[in-house]
Amino acid sequence: MFNFFKRKEKKKNSDFNYGSIMVDMHSHVLPGIDDGAQNPEESIFLIKKMMEVGIKKIIATPHIMVDFYRNTPETINGALEVLKAELKNQNIDIEIEAAAEHYFDETFEKRVDEKRLMIMGDNYALFEYSFVSPPPNAFQVIQKMIEWGDYKPILAHPERYAYMTVEEMTNLRAWGCNMQLNTISLTGYYGKDVKKKAEAMVDNDIVDFISSDMHHPRHAAAFHDALNFPHVQKLLTNYPLKNIMLK
Ligand SMILES: [Fe+2]
Repeated sequence: MFNFFKRKEKKKNSDFNYGSIMVDMHSHVLPGIDDGAQNPEESIFLIKKMMEVGIKKIIATPHIMVDFYRNTPETINGALEVLKAELKNQNIDIEIEAAAEHYFDETFEKRVDEKRLMIMGDNYALFEYSFVSPPPNAFQVIQKMIEWGDYKPILAHPERYAYMTVEEMTNLRAWGCNMQLNTISLTGYYGKDVKKKAEAMVDNDIVDFISSDMHHPRHAAAFHDALNFPHVQKLLTNYPLKNIMLK
């Protein structure tokens, strides 16, 4: 009965930040080339939000998606240069690089064949599946990425694919595919089911990378809020994440 008078205590996040991982390796902060930041001003707002919570290096990953965002190394590096100039203009000191988030569409295998993926660090290649259904030839193409391309594949936000189970992720990981969790999935940002699956990934020790997947200010707010959640705190305290290898 007295619960009515009890205030819900808001946990403080001041003890946690993303300093231990240092690198945010999946975001859409390059201006004007996909569904993320649309101009340098928006880019800088998002970048400042990452810096506030301890991110020291950003690897921006614009979509390469044949039906929507026909980005190439030229468009991506062009946007990177625009952003770098603006950062310099405003005296903002942050390391920033570009790679890509490759969509697993009908052009993806050809990119792998021609070794044209945009990589980060030591040949890591970030790619995403459709949200509707898995690619039928996923295993073959992933195997080809590893054996032919010498790539280290990273599957973006597997917790967001409703059709994918934690067991399937574990299998894919055993085949050599890294798993990248969106940090904000653990806040419930994408709904209860995604949150549950994200928590199971953490508890099953199958998370290799975490990142913001930041597109806009609502993601930035959730990225800050995520620091209040125990599973995020666990990832930042005692967990073998590989983000630091991209430093
Ligand atoms: Fe993304």
